[in-house]
Amino acid sequence: MSDIAKLQIGDESYEFPLIKGTENEVAINIKTLRGVSGGVITIDPGYKNTGSCESAITFLDGEKGILRYRGYSIEDLAEKADFLEVAYALIFGDLPNKEQLDKFHDDIKSNSIVDEDVKKIIDAFPKNAHPMGVLSSLTSALVAFNPSSVNVDSEEEMYNSIVRIMGKFPVLVAWAMRKTQGLPLNYGSKSLGYVENIMKMMFEKPNEEYEINPIIKDALDKLLILHADHEQNCSTSTVRIVGSSHAGLFASLSAGISALWGPLHGGANQAVLEMLEAIKEDGGDTKKYMAKAKDKSDPFRLMGFGHRVYKNFDPRATIIKVAANEVLNDLGIEDPILDIARGLEQEALNDEYFVKRKLYPNVDFYSGIIYRAMGIPVEMFTVMFALGRLPGWIAQWKEMRENKEPIGRPRQVYTGENLKEFKDINKR
Ligand code: SDX
Repeated sequence: MSDIAKLQIGDESYEFPLIKGTENEVAINIKTLRGVSGGVITIDPGYKNTGSCESAITFLDGEKGILRYRGYSIEDLAEKADFLEVAYALIFGDLPNKEQLDKFHDDIKSNSIVDEDVKKIIDAFPKNAHPMGVLSSLTSALVAFNPSSVNVDSEEEMYNSIVRIMGKFPVLVAWAMRKTQGLPLNYGSKSLGYVENIMKMMFEKPNEEYEINPIIKDALDKLLILHADHEQNCSTSTVRIVGSSHAGLFASLSAGISALWGPLHGGANQAVLEMLEAIKEDGGDTKKYMAKAKDKSDPFRLMGFGHRVYKNFDPRATIIKVAANEVLNDLGIEDPILDIARGLEQEALNDEYFVKRKLYPNVDFYSGIIYRAMGIPVEMFTVMFALGRLPGWIAQWKEMRENKEPIGRPRQVYTGENLKEFKDINKR
């Protein structure tokens, strides 16, 4: 393949350099287009064909169902690593040795206290406030209590901001859940691992000694790893574009949380469980919901199905489906919702509408079944997605700042009124 692209506009032809990635992806670098063509731009709703950056963090191949973080396959990481190791690899470029990991964890633990005044903010929320709204607000509020976190001009300042949010975010997640349950806002223990500590903060009851269930710990580790990054998805692109104005890390993460909340994105894991529950209440009539999903006049979509990039199985869904079965068996839970999910999946995989559009189960289709088995309330499912995605957002934001990327400011094609004469109100 030549290393240029040619573009003909009217009688003029233009050449643009091609960029080739380490996995042989090819992009046309059009950064000179508007200047050389007298103002012509491209347009691509939803950026289905447009790259926003070059990145060395995550590679995925939607056709082949491949996902790798820093070159490691998601299958290896889910099976052999723990979440903090994967977080370190995403943020700093490779898996840590024991000394690096221990220091990272120690620095996180030293930054895992949240100012008591944050509890006054939580108290101001109604008990039924959606935890994603609470989490986004609290993450932004953290700036007020850590004003120096906005400065990341030195490597040390960047590192300090990272360990602060890695330490405080799980506390906010636990407090957001405990607020809905009317439980005291607690802390974990420095003696525990990163994920065990999250479990203690989330699940501990004030009147009993909390014991870590290894089945749940392993499942949670795996789920957080599988959600940790996914290249330039909607919420990560939000974190990058907010950060490109040099807004601080915490403010950028708060924006990413809000983007993830949407039911077409991370909010789908909650919507999947609500859909499966509705089907169960409806006597398990999956065919009715399949018909609704295919009916263009019906806004209903089969939640947990389809993906902007994966036009084959989402490799995370494959891993989570097996884990869902194992966790329910190990915990001795019979959940009819799992059977309905399996039935729906089989129907969709054999339905011409879904096959033709390459709509397969995505990461959100089975994850909620595991969260439910862990005793996590359905409105907390997307918060768990955010907890997993935190290191990916941090890594992508850090890369954007280190690469000194310009402020994100897309162009548009104006389709409104041409110049109009102003009329006084009594003449309109
Ligand atoms: C995540 O991008 C990422 O990487 C995201 C994520 C991550 O890790 O960050 O992977 C996490 O967000 C997973 C996706 C979770 N969302 C859902 O499960 C919601 C249900 N899925 C859809 O809304 C949809 O599939 C999207 C939003 C995921 C993808 O939408 P696209 O790529 O814009 O595709 P589209 O809307 O253009 O759909 C193409 C066709 C349309 O039909 P036609 O117009 O061709 O006739 O497929 C149909 C759509 O109507 N379609 C569906 C469908 N998804 C697409 N029809 C029924 N049910 C669905 N779920």
